[in-house]
Amino acid sequence: MSTAMAEKLQIQLETPTDFLPLQGTDYIEFYVGNAKQAAHYYMSAFGFSALAYAGPETGIRDRASYVVRQNKLTFVLTTPIHAGNEIADHIYKHGDGVKVLALRVEDATDAWMQTTSRGGKSYMEPTLLKDEEGEIVMSGIHTYGDTVHLFIERKNYNGPFMPGYRNWEPAFNTQSTGLLYVDHCVGNVGWNCMNKWVKFYEEVMGFRNILTFDDNDISTEYSALMSKVMSNGNGYVKFPINEPAEGKKKSQVEEYLEFYDGEGVQHIALATNDIVKTVRELMKRGVEFLKVPDTYYNDLENRVGRIEEDIAPLKELGILVDRDDEGYLLQLFSKPIEDRPTVFFEIIQRKGAKSFGKGNFKALFEAIEREQEARGNL
Ligand code: FE2
Repeated sequence: MSTAMAEKLQIQLETPTDFLPLQGTDYIEFYVGNAKQAAHYYMSAFGFSALAYAGPETGIRDRASYVVRQNKLTFVLTTPIHAGNEIADHIYKHGDGVKVLALRVEDATDAWMQTTSRGGKSYMEPTLLKDEEGEIVMSGIHTYGDTVHLFIERKNYNGPFMPGYRNWEPAFNTQSTGLLYVDHCVGNVGWNCMNKWVKFYEEVMGFRNILTFDDNDISTEYSALMSKVMSNGNGYVKFPINEPAEGKKKSQVEEYLEFYDGEGVQHIALATNDIVKTVRELMKRGVEFLKVPDTYYNDLENRVGRIEEDIAPLKELGILVDRDDEGYLLQLFSKPIEDRPTVFFEIIQRKGAKSFGKGNFKALFEAIEREQEARGNL
């Protein structure tokens, strides 16, 4: 072996290559009871724009899917048009929920081979989809519950979304609320299952555990949980994993597991560059948020240090602030977006902080407990 080759081999040994390079979240697909109405909700309330449609009119016989987009956020709302199939069964069991967390890759065939060879269970073998706008390769693996990851290779595609979809240009459209991209997606898993899924993300997908919260960090009188944050190599994709912990009464994660009837996506954090403007607009359009007591703002700058924002609008809207070594963040959590107390959204603006708002857990979970109590689930 030449010296140069030996040096190259040594460098490879010292810096393991990312076997699953991800370019970010490609889209999130929800299975819902009524996709036509759900699409309208995400447009009118959250400020998404109509992008594409697939259904009987485009030759898809079993479902209808509406694709909506806002900046780098793409949601697909899919509903079955018959009973007795996988989509209908998913909704019957889980209610409306997240089926697909799709990740953008350079090579979907390689992503499938890398992950399935490391123990990932295949959901979709690499599949080529073609139309006159080009081609897409997609593949996928199962993750927690009935949730799946699809790997999307779209470098050779110029259409609105994917083959099978056509442009969707309804008369109704709306202004963006300033939501930009997916910051992180949180999964709720069963009792004592967090470490199993941490291992899955480490071994099968090459993620690292970047933060851990135990039940001392995350417990109020009642609502205990544990959480580990998993991140891919470049940090574009972050999946915190929660499991319930024993408390005096029912954990919020346990309530989720009961009503979702299993493991699944708990919340999706959407980034904005102007949280006051975004949240004000979302509230005006009917999105409901958790409310912390006004006393939260009494010593705010003593707790989190100087911030650039005025406190008054933060207090008015109930926006929370937390700081870590690298900066601070502003965040706020919606109420569940459906009648089952399951999926909700977080709105987040990062000002240097790379963490998840640990300093807000207590105030926040007490707010969640008030909601749980109102539902009779505490
Ligand atoms: Fe979050």
